[in-house]
Amino acid sequence: MDGASARDLTWFKDAIIYETHVKAFYDANGDGVGDFAGLVQKLDYLEQLGVTCLWLLPFFPSPLRDDGYDISDYRSVNPSYGTLPDVRRLVEEAHRRDIAVLIELVVNHTSDQHPWFQRARRAPPGSSERNFYVWSDTPERYKDARIIFTDTERSNWAFDEVAGAYYWHRFFSHQPDLNFDHPPVLEEVLGAMRFWLDFGVDGFRLDAIPYLVEREGTNCENLPETHAVIRRIRAELDRHYPGRILLAEANQWPRDVRPYFGEGDECHMAFHFPLMPRIFMSLRLEDAEPIVDILRRTPPLPENCQWGLFLRNHDELTLEMVTEDERDYMVLAYAQDPRARLNLGIRRRLAPLVDNARRRIELLNSLLFSLPGTPIIYYGDEIGMGDDVLRPDRDGVRTPMQWTGGPNAGFSSAAAQALYSLPIADPVYGHSAVNVEAQLRDPSSLLQWMRNLIRLRKQFQVFGRGTLEFVPVSNRKVLAYVRRWGEDTILCVANLSKHNQPAELDLSAFAGALPLEMLGYTTFPRIGRGAYFLSLSGYGFIWFELRGSSGPGSPLR
Ligand code: NOJ
Repeated sequence: MDGASARDLTWFKDAIIYETHVKAFYDANGDGVGDFAGLVQKLDYLEQLGVTCLWLLPFFPSPLRDDGYDISDYRSVNPSYGTLPDVRRLVEEAHRRDIAVLIELVVNHTSDQHPWFQRARRAPPGSSERNFYVWSDTPERYKDARIIFTDTERSNWAFDEVAGAYYWHRFFSHQPDLNFDHPPVLEEVLGAMRFWLDFGVDGFRLDAIPYLVEREGTNCENLPETHAVIRRIRAELDRHYPGRILLAEANQWPRDVRPYFGEGDECHMAFHFPLMPRIFMSLRLEDAEPIVDILRRTPPLPENCQWGLFLRNHDELTLEMVTEDERDYMVLAYAQDPRARLNLGIRRRLAPLVDNARRRIELLNSLLFSLPGTPIIYYGDEIGMGDDVLRPDRDGVRTPMQWTGGPNAGFSSAAAQALYSLPIADPVYGHSAVNVEAQLRDPSSLLQWMRNLIRLRKQFQVFGRGTLEFVPVSNRKVLAYVRRWGEDTILCVANLSKHNQPAELDLSAFAGALPLEMLGYTTFPRIGRGAYFLSLSGYGFIWFELRGSSGPGSPLR
């Protein structure tokens, strides 16, 4: 894929995104840390999985106190992961396989070790160097801004002895926030962005984008000034690099995320943070309502934009975008072990969250791959990897990819004590039980099932582009929705209950159509004017292609 030229500018709507950390994927040089050369070796695996876009967590020089989100140089590579030519090679090799590459643009904050900060703390107050960051003589300013890392931070201000002043930080105190009221900061950001675009990367995840600008009397989130910065970033991208994209990390309610798309002139994509916990709630409550409710409250997007859907990622399963009651319920349902809790969330991977229940993992993925948006898979979840809540912070969900049942999970040839992290070793999720090699040989493995689902999804652009209509169902344990785009109409039905369920669907709008079950190509009885009856096994789901005519308004094939 050539980063810019001939491809459809909305390619991201049809993408299958795979999120990974270079350090965690494959170690080619045997030093215990994954690297770009290792990732290149494993691109065939990703291609066979069906992935069309790779999202790489931060790989820049960093003291690694926030796993690389604390950047000390925007235009280089952490030497443990490789060199700039290695990045170029990765991008070229990925493109050769039609896999796009997204990287991180972390511009809300830097590491306190970044030369800009070291320079700023020594520079005279009021100087341009000093103004790269947000300073104050008192920690009393911006009192209405919440604290995000509640387990570690007590204030958004920290005192710097050298500067003799407080600096502002929305995350860890070693991550001072850049000052976007100071124009040279944006110039630097645009320069770093162009640097990586010239390497051929296809876009950026914009980390922590709601917090760029601070204003007294506000909660310092989602401010108009922040949106103005994003529009500048987007304009720069469009001017020189059409076809490259911005993916917003804005952990906010739908009405507050919607502005990050602007009028199609801010971000191309944004994660749907509020949907994710509600999928898990619906599953545990055996009730479709939380999903239906949040999607009804999700505003429509400009034509050239798309939601990014995910079940799990490298962070805790965040419960910031739920009510307090919902949060209590989620913690009760999914994190009875207090060690699984972190900040306002749950630090667990997908499989352990659902007690390793294969049918629940499949059901959740069926939603991920059929609700409106682009699905994002977190590395290792395609084989059902586990986690370790005893490790600090979020390290327990960032362990080495489990390639084989052999030493170090086949991830590295280094001595175990040299690994950046030991692989998961417990009897259920350890690499002897869960690994790629075994699952490739097992036709019934989760990995094979995922490959099949992805293959199916990619045959129908309607999944990435179609409209969404909920279908009235007699039973709240069953969720049914129709996706339509052009000639294609697809009906998805999901049983959120562990038990078999009957469901009467009001499909009168599709009377006359013939439902073709998409995984087995089985034809179901023709839809009539009355209720359409289905029975679903526990956690069962069915995707139907609706074929045949049903009169005006329903363009069925
Ligand atoms: C969001 C990232 O996803 C998270 O991992 C990081 O800790 C914070 N931004 C702060 O950089």
